[in-house]
Amino acid sequence: MSNCILITGGSGYIGSHTIIELFNKGFEVVSVDNQSNSSVNAYENVKKITGKEVKSYSVDLCNIDASRVIFKNHQFAGVIHFAAYKAVGESVEEPLKYYHNNIASLVNIIALSKEFGVRNLIFSSSCSVYGNVEKLPVDENTPRPKAESPYAYTKQIGEVMIQDFCKVNKDFNAIALRYFNPVGAHPSGLNGESPINKPNNLVPIITGVAIGKMAQLTVYGGDYPTRDGTCVRDYIHVSDIANAHVLAIDYLINSKNNTNYDVFNLGTGNGVSVLEAINAFEKISGQKLNYKIGPRREGDVIAVYSDSTKVYQALKWKCAHNIDSMMETAWKWEKNMAK
Ligand code: UD1
Repeated sequence: MSNCILITGGSGYIGSHTIIELFNKGFEVVSVDNQSNSSVNAYENVKKITGKEVKSYSVDLCNIDASRVIFKNHQFAGVIHFAAYKAVGESVEEPLKYYHNNIASLVNIIALSKEFGVRNLIFSSSCSVYGNVEKLPVDENTPRPKAESPYAYTKQIGEVMIQDFCKVNKDFNAIALRYFNPVGAHPSGLNGESPINKPNNLVPIITGVAIGKMAQLTVYGGDYPTRDGTCVRDYIHVSDIANAHVLAIDYLINSKNNTNYDVFNLGTGNGVSVLEAINAFEKISGQKLNYKIGPRREGDVIAVYSDSTKVYQALKWKCAHNIDSMMETAWKWEKNMAK
């Protein structure tokens, strides 16, 4: 039986870390990525860490004919579908770009999986499907109101599409993993987040300011109804997220699931404010960060953190990294990139 997994978005941040963990567990991997927000350097990083070469295709998954070639060339035990646009602010500015890319690629992945008899799918969803919640922490049954951004809406739609497909394709198995805020880098410091486009997530901006790539961090809003006035998120180390994917695909391949569609939160359960994240960085780096409190950012939710009981129980997954380790590895990676 094949133990080869197709990773879409394999040169991206979470995709490349997941390839490392799959290799560590003896899986074979094929990656497809059109490098719209990542570089093939990530494959080199994977090789430095694991000694293994990543077989890869540079294909746009919105092109079904080009994507079909990959399914023809390999027999996959499962697909882990990371490839998607992910900037909340940009999705508000350019909604069609997000609806087209994130939805069409997922439709094609599911259609090709069916055509080639690939029965296991892990889908990158997001805690943004919960929007502004009334009760914290959020678990998988927390109601999902209208999405706050087109990006978040593509994740809501993606989940529904997969669930509808699973209802009528009983031999197809899928899990949606709702990530909270993935941060940090591989503990070796040899792989991390390196978006081609301007970073707009908090931790790459913190380390970017500290190294001098950017002048100052603006904290988006200091007047929220939280313990220090700044937004609260559930930051989770990228290697912990990567490990959850290995457990999830293994769970499906070995038929440990008792329902053919399921959804799990992936968070640590700890809410951390923007100022607490900055403090953690200052503590581990021994460096003062240049920041100011600015206006709120459109589309931001006030506070969100996870109840991850369900994933702990089903996948026997545990987080190995706390906020200090997230900052420490992110900083190590930033310093390595500057060398
Ligand atoms: C959002 C989604 C998350 C998704 C991610 C992908 C929510 C709740 N989360 O994360 O699911 O995976 O986008 O990009 O919608 N901040 C600043 N200054 C900055 C940058 C960020 O203060 O320069 C603050 C933000 O206001 C926020 C926190 O830092 O409170 C984290 O922001 P960011 O890293 O952009 O992630 P989210 O928007 O939370």
